[in-house]
Amino acid sequence: MRFLAGLLAIARLSSAASSKRGLCFTPNEAHPQDNQVWVKPGSDLKWYYNYQSLPSPAYASLSQDDFEYIPMMWGVGSNPNDTTFYDQVKKLVDDGTKIQHVLGFNEPDGPADQGGSNIKPKDAAQAWVANFEPLGKMGIKLGLPACTGSLGGLPWLKQFLGNCSELVSTGSEKKNCTWDFLPVHWYDNFAGLASHIGERRATWPDAEIWVTEYAYAHQDLTPTQEFYNQSIDYFEKLDYIGRYSYFGAFRASKANVGPNAAFLSNGGKLTDIGSWYLGFNATGVNPQSGKGAMAVPSVVLVGAGVAAGLVINLF
Ligand SMILES: *[C@@H]1O[C@H](CO)[C@@H](O)[C@H](O)[C@H]1NC(C)=O
Ligand SMILES: *[C@@H]1O[C@H](CO)[C@@H](O)[C@H](O)[C@H]1NC(C)=O
Ligand SMILES: *[C@@H]1O[C@H](CO)[C@@H](O)[C@H](O)[C@H]1NC(C)=O
Ligand SMILES: *[C@@H]1O[C@H](CO)[C@@H](O)[C@H](O)[C@H]1NC(C)=O
Ligand SMILES: *[C@@H]1O[C@H](CO)[C@@H](O)[C@H](O)[C@H]1NC(C)=O
Repeated sequence: MRFLAGLLAIARLSSAASSKRGLCFTPNEAHPQDNQVWVKPGSDLKWYYNYQSLPSPAYASLSQDDFEYIPMMWGVGSNPNDTTFYDQVKKLVDDGTKIQHVLGFNEPDGPADQGGSNIKPKDAAQAWVANFEPLGKMGIKLGLPACTGSLGGLPWLKQFLGNCSELVSTGSEKKNCTWDFLPVHWYDNFAGLASHIGERRATWPDAEIWVTEYAYAHQDLTPTQEFYNQSIDYFEKLDYIGRYSYFGAFRASKANVGPNAAFLSNGGKLTDIGSWYLGFNATGVNPQSGKGAMAVPSVVLVGAGVAAGLVINLF
């Protein structure tokens, strides 16, 4: 579509292209050609994030209108007042990059050994005030920190917002920190996903939800695909789901969410889920086909802040 309108008519499924669908990007250094699969002609993907504050070199030639880059402040260092994130995003804007959204911390309620950024609500609030509040004043839409799917996520978020209110309130005048949408992560079944989102909406009834990491992790192929189909229909149907990005843009051999959730087979071919996600027909490619079967089921996507390890304690 946006990359090559001509091909679209022939290649695309009959359903309308999604304006919500994006890429949760973890670059493949061993196979850089994989990075281009997500932006091939006809791809449905409209936006991406890379857990960092600057765009990925792989997509340097694409404009924000073609493929919107969304910066993320992954975590907080030793000085919560540090404004490096704000400075970098401000510079992108000053240099002419149309930044419209930014994302808060990645899994701040999660421990570092499971990819979480492990931040105290108080420090996160300080960092939010230093970096996000001024970006909000520039008209950029702010995504709250994306907590894990575990039970600690909601209390963390409430404490963070409480701490943040204290920082921005003066005297008797009570204020809240600014935010525009609420990102969530989920790696279990569909009923759990729906109830997780429902719990967020019960707490903040007007919240726009973004599902910025999700998959049914470590399952057989059929339930993995059933979950995929059901969740996509759900996200497309509900107006309050602003955007979503499935966690699968890697080869099955590198997946820490189980091979069947991956967009690419061991050999680097699009799987059914990968092809559906881009807006094309099923490929019939078995995720575990091709060279490079998983030798060690370890967390390979280090730094990506993946919640896969949390699947065990979701309920
Ligand atoms: C995709 O599938 C549809 C429905 O089965 C079919 O009509 C169409 O020709 C297929 N497109 C391609 C490019 O194979
Ligand atoms: C961060 O700034 C606040 C004032 O906004 C100050 O109270 C706090 O001590 C500072 N923290 C650090 C670690 O510098
Ligand atoms: C601020 O966060 C701490 C945990 O870091 C929590 O104990 C406290 O209740 C929070 N304050 C408010 C006002 O929510
Ligand atoms: C701050 O947020 C809380 C929780 O969402 C809400 O109840 C309260 O009315 C808000 N306060 C202000 C001043 O907007
Ligand atoms: C998922 O949806 C596709 C059509 O988009 C369909 O061909 C496939 O059979 C579905 N799979 C399952 C397991 O529901």
